[in-house]
Amino acid sequence: MPALVLLGAQWGDEGKGKATDLLGGSVDYVVRYQGGNNAGHTVVVGDQKYALHLLPSGILSPGCTPVIGNGVVVDPSVLLSELSGLNERGVDTSKLLISGNAHIITPYNVTVDKVSERFLGKRKIGTTGRGIGPTYADKINRVGIRVQDLYDESILTQKVEAALDAKNQILTKLYNRRAIAAEQVVEELLGYADKLAPYVADTVLVLNEALEQDKVVLFEGGQGTLLDIDHGTYPFVTSSNPTAGGACTGAGVGPTKISRVIGILKAYTTRVGAGPFPTELFDEDGEALRRIGGERGVTTGRDRRCGWFDAVIARYATRVNGLTDFFLTKLDVLTGWEQIPVCVAYEIDGRRVEELPYSQSDFHHAKPVYEMLPGWSEDISKAKSFSDLPKNAQAYVKALEEMSGAPISAIGVGPGRDETIEINSFL
Ligand code: IMP
Repeated sequence: MPALVLLGAQWGDEGKGKATDLLGGSVDYVVRYQGGNNAGHTVVVGDQKYALHLLPSGILSPGCTPVIGNGVVVDPSVLLSELSGLNERGVDTSKLLISGNAHIITPYNVTVDKVSERFLGKRKIGTTGRGIGPTYADKINRVGIRVQDLYDESILTQKVEAALDAKNQILTKLYNRRAIAAEQVVEELLGYADKLAPYVADTVLVLNEALEQDKVVLFEGGQGTLLDIDHGTYPFVTSSNPTAGGACTGAGVGPTKISRVIGILKAYTTRVGAGPFPTELFDEDGEALRRIGGERGVTTGRDRRCGWFDAVIARYATRVNGLTDFFLTKLDVLTGWEQIPVCVAYEIDGRRVEELPYSQSDFHHAKPVYEMLPGWSEDISKAKSFSDLPKNAQAYVKALEEMSGAPISAIGVGPGRDETIEINSFL
C-alpha cells in the first residue's frame, strides 16, 4: 500500500516536477489534490523541457495514470490546451482521470480574481490571476460548479444563474464592471463537456482500489507549505491546502493509507507574490540566486523573490506535514559562494525565537539570525553519490538535515532528469 505525498516545504517552486518525475517510472498513479493552473512544474526529459500547470507531472511517464483529484480546481480551457500541446509533442495523455467532483474555474471566477486584486490596491495578495481563490470561495459558499455539472444542462444553468446573481450585483455596483450573462457562460461550459467526457471518473474509487491492489500512488502537492490557507502566511497564501492533510481530503484517501510524506526543499528560499519573507535578499546575492537558479515563475513569468535557506521554515514544514523525508533541490545553484549564510533562528523584538511564531505580527518583524557555512567552488552537477560531493557541500547538506528535522533522502544537482543523487530510496 505505498502511498506517498510529495509537497513543497517552503513557498512553492521548490522543484517538485523533477522529484515527481524521478519517481514517475515506478509509480502507478500521480494525483494532484489541490490548487489549479496557478501551479507550474518544469520537467526536463532528455533535451525536452515541459512546463505543466494543471496536469500532474506523471503525465510524462508512460505506464503512469495521472489523476486530477476532487480537491483541484479546473479551468477547462487551460486543461484542454495543455493536453493538446502535449499531444502535438507526441505525449499520450489518454490515461488522464479527472474527478467529477473537482470544481470548475469559470470565466467569472477569473474576472473576480482580477478585479478584486485591483480593488485591493497596495494591499493586494499578488495572486496568479487565474481565478483560484474565487473558485474555492464559491465551493465553500456552495455555489460552485463541478465537473459533473457539465453533463446536466438544466442543473448547470440553475447553478450558474445562482452563482451569478450575487456576483453581478458586486461586479456592477462595487467594481463598476459589466454584468456577465449566465447563458453565455453555460454555452461556453457545455462546449467543454464532450471533450472532457473521456477523462471524467470516480477517482476516489479508482485510487482506493489501486491502493488495495498494492499499486504505488503518489500525491503531488501544488504550491507549498507556507502558502497553505490554514498553515501558511495568511492572508498571503493560496486558497487550498497544499500540506499533507490536503492529500486526504483532496483525493478521498484516508490518512491511514499514507505511508510517506516527502518535503521538497530548495537549498535556498524563493517566494512569488506579496507577504513576509525573513531571509529575502535585496542585494547582488539575491540577484545572483535569481539569475543562476532561473527564478522566474513558470506560470506567471514573474521574477521570484530570493533569499538564503531558512531552517525555521523547514522545521515548521516537518511538523505540520509529518515529513518523513526531504528532497533537497538546486544545490548546484549555491556553487561558487565562499560562505553561505543559513537562517537558524529569528530575532523578534530583541528576542531569539527558534520556531515559526504563530503571531503574524511577530513573523512580520522576524529578522534572520544567520550561521555562516563554508561554500565550495567545484562543479557538482556530475555527482552521482553523496560522497562525490565536495566536503563543504556534504557539510552544508548535513547541517540542513540536522536543522530541518527529517532525513534528506535525495539531492538535486542540476535540472536534468539524471542530475539527482539518491541517498534513501523513496519506495
Ligand atoms: P493564487 O494561488 O493565484 O490565489 O495566489 C495566491 C498566492 O500564492 C500568491 O502569492 C501567488 O504568487 C502564490 N502562488 C500560487 N501558486 C503558486 C505556485 O505554484 N508557486 C509559488 N507561488 C504560488
